[in-house]
Amino acid sequence: MSEIVHVVGARPNFMKAGPVVAACAERGVEARLIHTGQHYDEAMSQVFLEELGLPEPDLNLGVGSGSHAGQTAALLLELEKVFRSESPSVVVVYGDVNSTLAASVVASKLLIPIAHVEAGLRSFDRTMPEEVNRVVTDALATWHFVTSPEAIGHLANEGISGAGVHFVGNPMIDTLLAFRDRLDIPQARDRFELPDSYAVATLHRPANVDSPETARRIVDGLGRVARSLPIILPLHPRGRVVLNEVGLSDVNGLLVVEPLGYLEFMALVAGAALVLTDSGGIQEETTILGIPCLTLRENTERPITISMGTNQLVGSDPDLIERAAMQALSAPPSHEIPPLWDGKAGRRIAEVLAGL
Ligand code: UD1
Repeated sequence: MSEIVHVVGARPNFMKAGPVVAACAERGVEARLIHTGQHYDEAMSQVFLEELGLPEPDLNLGVGSGSHAGQTAALLLELEKVFRSESPSVVVVYGDVNSTLAASVVASKLLIPIAHVEAGLRSFDRTMPEEVNRVVTDALATWHFVTSPEAIGHLANEGISGAGVHFVGNPMIDTLLAFRDRLDIPQARDRFELPDSYAVATLHRPANVDSPETARRIVDGLGRVARSLPIILPLHPRGRVVLNEVGLSDVNGLLVVEPLGYLEFMALVAGAALVLTDSGGIQEETTILGIPCLTLRENTERPITISMGTNQLVGSDPDLIERAAMQALSAPPSHEIPPLWDGKAGRRIAEVLAGL
């Protein structure tokens, strides 16, 4: 039988794929790693591969950035060449980025079965490009690896159920638990001259950083929080222009830095009093670490981080951001660990892949 191919492309893919790729190797499952090159900056890609101990990709397709259509078209063309020449037995895709969608569409047309890691998450907000990617990928996949129980119901509502759906836990949390002891909080604080109590913020969603009006409201909210608590914000390249136009770099108490590697970023999160973010993964990571998380969105595809974790949706209203921050600081939320977020998801996935 030919090999399994894992496809990764963007920053959040690497923490999800790491444990699965490692567990496949441990079990002797033949696999190759393909990087689409959707993310290409050293700080958005290479640093994660190195820190997380992922093998050097067997191929990097160098697809890069573009409009959604342009980027997806380039991904389709490049992935088709690779899948045609390699004829993988299974294509394993991760999360909800454009590389996930493109690999699924190409594999499906070439009649190669697809395994989707992090299947069934739904924000029910089709204005998010990731929601479209999730729905299409799940419709095309044969095996659905589910990180959170409600996803099983979402899949069933779309006619997807049965032996291909596996509730396996969360491989991104495998990565966090594996590296938790190596997070050097004092060193990360010292490098940025942060006091003991500080907040971490991230912003990159198109809905927040493409529209100056929304970006301005969020920057206003962050500025209000920063009056009580210094904030460090490692800035994703996508938001730079608009966020700077609306004054991000002039906010007192807000330190904007370049994107950070996994270990330093997670150390800052682990040592923080509060996190403000529009990322999906960070909602999950703060749930495990017990750090209050204010999500700068109107919805989430990860509701378990609210029902069991430390997460709260605050949108982009500066009053609400300020009020929720003050409340979270005075009474940090209690939290439980979601089921099977136990560090063994990668092994469960590899066990299924080994049996195919
Ligand atoms: C992508 C994912 C998003 C994920 C995010 C994490 C899609 C649709 N979106 O969004 O779900 O949360 O990654 O980071 O796949 N850029 C660089 N250097 C890079 C990569 C990007 O400068 O290495 C800049 C470019 O200007 C590019 C922009 O960021 O146009 C957007 O990159 P893109 O890959 O299209 O989407 P992200 O916003 O990163």
